[in-house]
Amino acid sequence: MRLRSHRARPATDLRPVYGEDPTVNALEAEVAALFGHEAALFAPSGTMANQIALQLLVPPGEELLCDADAHVVTYEIGAAAAYGGISSRTWPTVGADIDPEVVARMIRPDGFFAVPTRAIAVEQTHNRGGGGVIPLDTLRELRGVADDAGVALHCDGARIWHAHVADGVSLTEYGGLFDTLSVCLSKGLGAPVGSLVVGSAEKIARARTIRKRMGGGMRQAGILAAAGRYALAHHVDRLAEDHARAARLAEAVAPFGVLATTVRTNLVPLDLTKHALDARALAAAARQEGVLISVLGPRTARLVTHLGLDDEGLDRALRALPRILAAA
Ligand SMILES: Cc1ncc(COP(=O)(O)O)c(C=O)c1O
Repeated sequence: MRLRSHRARPATDLRPVYGEDPTVNALEAEVAALFGHEAALFAPSGTMANQIALQLLVPPGEELLCDADAHVVTYEIGAAAAYGGISSRTWPTVGADIDPEVVARMIRPDGFFAVPTRAIAVEQTHNRGGGGVIPLDTLRELRGVADDAGVALHCDGARIWHAHVADGVSLTEYGGLFDTLSVCLSKGLGAPVGSLVVGSAEKIARARTIRKRMGGGMRQAGILAAAGRYALAHHVDRLAEDHARAARLAEAVAPFGVLATTVRTNLVPLDLTKHALDARALAAAARQEGVLISVLGPRTARLVTHLGLDDEGLDRALRALPRILAAA
C-alpha cells in the first residue's frame, strides 16, 4: 500500500488545520476585523479559546489576575494551572463592578522573588455577576493599569455581543482595549458550536500551535464556521429582544422576594436566600412546568434568555415562576 503525503489528500480533509478552509478563514478574518485586530483563530469551545489566550499571555509559573468568580478560574477545571502552568490570584467577587485601583495594587513586578504578574483577565458580560456589563471607562482605566505595569489584558468575551448591544459600545472599541479576546458564537448568538481567539498576527500564529496541542485543531470545521458566520450576520442586533425578555422575567419574580439584581442583559440571577424554596427545589418545580433553570449554588439560580426562547416560552415562564414562588 502506498502512503499518501498530506498534500495528496482530498481537498476537504485537513484544511482548517493547515489554514486552508475558505469558510473558516472567512470567519476568522471577519471576527478579527470586527474587533480591529490582525487575526483570529477558530476554537471548539469558549474554554479552549480562553485557555489558548492565557497560555499566549502568561508563561508557566507566572501570574494571571482575575476576579474570584471569573469563568477562567471557576468553571475551567484548573486548566490554566493544569495545561499552562499558570499561577492565578483573584480580586474579591464584584462582578462587572471592578475597581481598577484594587487591581493595580495586586500587580507584582518582574523579578525572581515573587511570582510576576503577566496578565489581567476580565469577563464581558460577567456570567456569575448576573450578566453585568463592565463600563467602558472602567475598561479604559484597566488598560491604563495594564500599560503602566507592562502586563497584558485579556477579555473573556463569551457574551461581549450582549455588552455591545446593551451599552452601544462598538466591538472595535472593545477590541482596541485588549491584547487578546475570546468571543463565543454558541451562546447568545445561537450557532451550534465555536469560539474565536482574537489578537495580533504574531499571537494568533502561536495560538495555532497551542490549539493543535490541546486537541482543538478540527479538520471538519468549515460547516461549523458557516453557522458561525450566519449567526454573526443575523443574531447580534436581536440580542436586544433577549435583554427585554430578561427584564420582564426579573420583574415577574421581584414581588416574591427573589432578588433579581439589576438585569442589564440576558442573564437573570436569582438570589433565594430569603425564600422558602432553595435553588434545587425551584428548578425541579419549574422543570415540571417546562421551564429550565440553572442551579448555581444552594440558594442561587440563573434564568437565561436566548435565541431558542420565543414569546410563547417567555409567557410560560412568566406564568409558572410566580405561581411556584407564591405557593412556597
Ligand atoms: C463567561 C464565559 N466564558 C467562557 C465560557 C466557556 O464556554 P464553553 O462552554 O464553550 O467552553 C462560558 C460558558 O458558559 C462563559 O459563561
